[in-house]
Amino acid sequence: MCGITATVGADDVVSALLTGLENLEYRGYDSAGVALANGAGVEVVKREGRGDDLVDRLSTASLSGRVGLGHTRWSTHGPPTDANAHPHTDCTGELAVVHNGIVENHAELRERLRGAGHRFTSDTDTEVVPHLVEEYLAAGGDVETAFRRAVADLSGSYAVALVHADEDAVYATREGSPLVFGVDDGAGTPDAAYYLASDVPAFLEFTDDVVYLEDGDVIRVAPAGYEITGTDGTPVDRPVESVDWSPDDVEKGTYDHYMRKEIDEQPTAVAQAVRGRVDGGAVSFDSLTAGIFNDVARVQFVACGTSYHAALYGAQLLRERGVPARVFLASEYAVNAPPADEQTLLVGVTQSGETADTLAALRSGQSDGIRTLAVTNVVGSTAARECDDAVFIRAGPEIGVAATKTFSSQVATLSLLAERLCRDVRDSRGDDASELLAALDTIPSKIGSVLADSSAAELADRYGDSDAYFFIGRATAHSVALEGALKLKEISYEHAEGFPAGELKHGPLALVTPTTPVSAVATGRHTEKLVGSIEEVSARGAPVIAVAPRSETAVAEAADDVLWVPDSHPELVGLLANVQLQLLSYHTATLLDRPVDKPRNLAKSVTVE
Ligand code: F6R
Repeated sequence: MCGITATVGADDVVSALLTGLENLEYRGYDSAGVALANGAGVEVVKREGRGDDLVDRLSTASLSGRVGLGHTRWSTHGPPTDANAHPHTDCTGELAVVHNGIVENHAELRERLRGAGHRFTSDTDTEVVPHLVEEYLAAGGDVETAFRRAVADLSGSYAVALVHADEDAVYATREGSPLVFGVDDGAGTPDAAYYLASDVPAFLEFTDDVVYLEDGDVIRVAPAGYEITGTDGTPVDRPVESVDWSPDDVEKGTYDHYMRKEIDEQPTAVAQAVRGRVDGGAVSFDSLTAGIFNDVARVQFVACGTSYHAALYGAQLLRERGVPARVFLASEYAVNAPPADEQTLLVGVTQSGETADTLAALRSGQSDGIRTLAVTNVVGSTAARECDDAVFIRAGPEIGVAATKTFSSQVATLSLLAERLCRDVRDSRGDDASELLAALDTIPSKIGSVLADSSAAELADRYGDSDAYFFIGRATAHSVALEGALKLKEISYEHAEGFPAGELKHGPLALVTPTTPVSAVATGRHTEKLVGSIEEVSARGAPVIAVAPRSETAVAEAADDVLWVPDSHPELVGLLANVQLQLLSYHTATLLDRPVDKPRNLAKSVTVE
């Protein structure tokens, strides 16, 4: 949700900024822009539309400088126009700012600044920042002091970076929005180059040495080196850490879309999630000491979107093991938290670790004294840092806006966590713990065979002009049905809904017609009931696509078409079925010529509530 980037000291600052913007486009693609400071002034080039449009404009502009900022926007205040694109400048044009987040008091600040004679040229909340800095510079003091004073006036969430014509330096700070710092070739060395960004993939092809900045940190980066200070100006020490993501992870390679690449990466992603965490019948996570959950009596999950569906799946596994578990949409939990006590474990499931709704829910739990655990993909993310404990899903970077491999990695990790929690909470293993763990080991190769043998492309072709698409299932298959519908609607823009299979007859059946295919997800459990639901929709003339393990012949016979998955432990079949539904969505969206990796109005990391 908006990506900011800054580059200092690279040989070709413009190209490094464009690389950063391209790698951050999953955060927003309504407009893009860059600003360069070159001692003589600040030059800004920005435009509505995707990064490619900016590249076109830059090809006719000759920009130079050793210090620059970049921004890719997901609109909050004001429509996607050239004027609303970042970077934003002050009245003098001597300084430029990029921002991710929301300045909540922007209206009041704008009024104050207008009253002091400042002229605004955009509808954005961000534009108050350069004018504030301008105001404080005019009052006397250096750029750093003016920047600090301006930031102190802001309320809301922000990661903000600034360049000024007078200095070969970038100033940046964060409060509630992500900001990471990359160091290439060793700080202070003559060849050093530095990168600031909303997320590590922005600069992964230049460096994997990262400093995770904390809220309130102010960083000044110049070609000769950098300094991080707290809000009061005293130096703070932040370690440089190496990330184990590879630059290839953020390349599309020979694929047309990141989404397709990431679907294909699932065997590896799931294997990574499981690797080294199962020893015989026991599960261990490096980050969780033995017995850590002994005093936990119940689990509450908070999450959004695809992560919410993974949490539903995980909670189902816990309940099947006798551990009370409930799942809440994070945005609802934050405003209406259910009763909880010191024996409650609050688990935030979040790929990015930066989703504002999920962070707000976790913070509300923390403020009530509830213990928190983050299940996330991003080491160094806000969720990982703020929660009492963190478990990483190890999926590698996910660039496609539609989450795919991270759902599989979340479910695999939550399956392990269910086994672990069940042992700690109930002091006993689930009845079939060893079967589940053994089955988990075979899931990567079974995902591989789904990918190799899927007939999803054919079915997408057959049903591509339907009026709407419905998905049904029970228990874990219900979460997969919800996820199948979310995936289809977000990338194809077609109407799609998921329902618990048994709920169809209580209302949704009214929507079912011969032009609304229904995908029925079977797991090997509750077969007769699912067959009953299939018959209900077939009787209304709707075509049924069963997504079923090979042994589920009754389901397959009741359906019109089948997307087969290999037989597996019934608790893990949903993971395989979901891969078929990802492919169905992908092929439907490509047939409709949709921008699969960047669906309209969406952004990957939703950092506003
Ligand atoms: C859907 C999708 C979103 C995210 C949601 C939560 O494909 O990607 O629904 O799942 O915004 O994001 P995280 O998991 O980063 O908290």
